[in-house]
Amino acid sequence: MGDPVAGYTLRLQRQESEIQSLSEEIEILRNQQALGSSSQLDELREENAKLKYRINVLKRSLQEDPAECSKTMMNINQRLQEIFCESINSAYPELVNPPLSVTPNQQAKFGDYQCNSAMAMAQMMKAKGLKVNPREIAEKIVQNIPENEMIQKTEIAGPGFINVHLKKSFVSKLLTNLLVNGVQPPPLEKKQKVIVDFSSPNIAKEMHVGHLRSTIIGESMCRLFEFLGYSVLRLNHVGDWGTQFGMLIAHLQDMFPDYLTSSPPIGDLQSFYKESKKRFDSEEDFKKRAYQCVVKLQSKEPDFIKAWNLICDVSRKEFQKVYNCLDISLVERGESYYQNMMTEVVKEFEDKGFVQLDEGRKIVFAPGFSVPLTIVKSDGGYTYDTSDLAALRQRLFDEKANIIIYVTDSGQASHFYVVFACAQMIGWYDPKVTRVEHAGFGVVLGEDKKKFKTRSGDTVRLMDLLEEGLKRSMDKLKEKERDKVLTAEELVRAQRAVAFGCIKYADLSHNRINDYVFSFDKMLDDRGNTAAYLLYAFTRIRSIARLASIDEATLRKAAETTEVLLDHEKEWKLGKCILRFPEILQKILDDLLLHPLCDYLYELATTFTEFYDNCYCVEKDRQTGEVVKVNMWRMLLCDATAAVMAKGFDILGINPVERM
Ligand code: ARG
Repeated sequence: MGDPVAGYTLRLQRQESEIQSLSEEIEILRNQQALGSSSQLDELREENAKLKYRINVLKRSLQEDPAECSKTMMNINQRLQEIFCESINSAYPELVNPPLSVTPNQQAKFGDYQCNSAMAMAQMMKAKGLKVNPREIAEKIVQNIPENEMIQKTEIAGPGFINVHLKKSFVSKLLTNLLVNGVQPPPLEKKQKVIVDFSSPNIAKEMHVGHLRSTIIGESMCRLFEFLGYSVLRLNHVGDWGTQFGMLIAHLQDMFPDYLTSSPPIGDLQSFYKESKKRFDSEEDFKKRAYQCVVKLQSKEPDFIKAWNLICDVSRKEFQKVYNCLDISLVERGESYYQNMMTEVVKEFEDKGFVQLDEGRKIVFAPGFSVPLTIVKSDGGYTYDTSDLAALRQRLFDEKANIIIYVTDSGQASHFYVVFACAQMIGWYDPKVTRVEHAGFGVVLGEDKKKFKTRSGDTVRLMDLLEEGLKRSMDKLKEKERDKVLTAEELVRAQRAVAFGCIKYADLSHNRINDYVFSFDKMLDDRGNTAAYLLYAFTRIRSIARLASIDEATLRKAAETTEVLLDHEKEWKLGKCILRFPEILQKILDDLLLHPLCDYLYELATTFTEFYDNCYCVEKDRQTGEVVKVNMWRMLLCDATAAVMAKGFDILGINPVERM
C-alpha cells in the first residue's frame, strides 16, 4: 500500500520552516525591544500541531484490516486517496512525498471526484530542473491506477485534472450495506478517551449567550466523538472558586444567620451578588470580614464550606434549567476541584526552574510567547492560569485523556495557547501523541449587529431566551394550523423540537470562528438552511413509507433482497450524496468545525427533494388513491436518506419528531 501521509508531511515541512523563520524574526524583534503580537506564529503553531497529530492518525489507520471495515460506512474520498497514492508512487517512485489531493467534484458532469496532484507534481519536478507537462503526469498516474472495486472510468481534463467516475454497482453495494447494517462509523483501532471542557459558567453570575454557544458546540463535538467510538468525558469547568466567595459568604451570614440549619431562600443570586459587592466596596468592616471569610474558606472550615456549597447550589439549579431544555448533561468539575493540585503545580514549575519573580508575582514564560502566565499572585493566591495548568495536568495524568478540547469564546485563545505551551515546555505532553486544542468561537450579536442585549441594554437571561424560543415556535406551529392535526402531546413535542433544535442549529450551521447574529425570525424560517426546514423534510421522508403502509419489517427484509437501482440521474445523485456522510464526519473531526455537517444535511435534504420530485416511489390509482405499485428500491433510498439524516441530527443534538 502507498503512503497517503505524503501530502500532510509536505505541508508540515513547509510550515516548520515557516515557523522557524518567524521565530527568528520574533527573536530579532525581541532583541530590538519592539515585540508586537505574535498571533500569526500562534496560528501556525496550532496548525502545525494538528498536522503532526493527523499524520500519526493516518499512519495508524494504514495498518487497519480492510475486512473489518466491511460492515461500517466507507470513506470513499479516503479510499480514493489511497488508490491515487499507490498509482502516484508506482508512476513516480523517485519523487519524495509527492502531493496528494483528491476532492469531491462540485459539478457532477465532470465526474464524482477529482485528483489534482499532477499540477503540483509538475511544479515539484520543475523545482528540480525537470520540465514535464502536467497532462503527461496525469496520464502516467491514470495508467498506474491499481485494480480496484470503485472506479468506473477516469478522464483527464484541462491542465491535468483527473476526473473520477464511480461504479454504479459499487455505490449500490455500499447503500445496501448501509441499509442492512445501519449507519456505522469507521472502526477505531484503539479506544481513545476525549475530554471536552465546555459550557463552564461562573457561580453567582449570569450564564450568558457565550456560555450557550459553548454548551451547544461542545455537546455536539461530544456527540460526534461518541458516534465515532471514543469514550467521552464532558467537563463543566465552572468558576466556583475565588475571592468573590468571601463577600458572598459574609453577606450570607448577615442576611440568613441560621443558614447552617435552614436553607437560605436566595431567589435571585445576581442581586445577592450585587448587594454584597456594593457593601464590599463601601463598608470597611464588611470588606475586612470578607477577606477573613476567604481565608477560612480556603482552609476548608466546615461552616464556610457549607455556606459556599449553599451558594453554589443556587447557581447550579439555575444552570440545570438551561441544561434540561437543551437535553445536556455534564460532569461538574469546577476550579475548586483543583485546589490542592495547584500547590503541586507551582512547586513543579519552581523545581524545574521555570518560575520568575515579578513584583511579588510568580510568573512563567513559554518559549515564543511574550505574555507570561501568572501562577501565584502577589497576595499568594492562585489564578485562572494556575487552575488551568492543574486541570490540564490532572486530565493528562489521572484521566489519561488522548484528546482534550476547550470550548470558549475566542477571546480566551491566547490564555489557552500559553497554558498549552507551558505544559509542553515542562514535558507534560507531546502534541504529536496527545491532541490538546482550544476550539474558540465568535461573539453573539443582535439583529442590529451590535453585542446581543435586551431592549433596555441588559444582558439577556438564557432562560428568557429559551422561553421566547418556545413561544415563537408555538406561534409558528399554530400559524400553520398544526394544532388542528396534532394531538396536544405531539404539539408540545414539536414545539420543543423546533424551538431548541433551531437555536442549536443556527449556532452550529455557522462557522464557529465568526461572530454570529442571533435572529429568531431567521432560525424559525422553514425555508433555507434551518432546523425548521430539515425537521419538516425529515418527517416528510419518514411519512412516505407510512403512507404506503410499508412497515419496518418489510423494509428491513427488502434491504437484504432488493438491489438499489441507480439508473435515474436523480437516484444516482442521491445515492452518492448519502454516502458522503463519513467523509464529512472525518473532516469535522479534523477541524472541529461543525458547520460542514449542517451544510451537508441541507444538501442531502434538497438532493432528496429533487429525487422525490422526479422519481415515483409509490404509484397510486388516480381515482381511488389506492397504492398500485411500490418501487421498493426507491423506498430504500428514502430509508437510507432518513437514516443518515437521523444520525446527523443526533450529532447536532437535534431531536426529530415523527409528526409535526
Ligand atoms: N468559566 C470560564 C468563563 O466563563 C470558562 C472556563 C473554560 N474552561 C477552562 N478550563 N478555562 O469564561
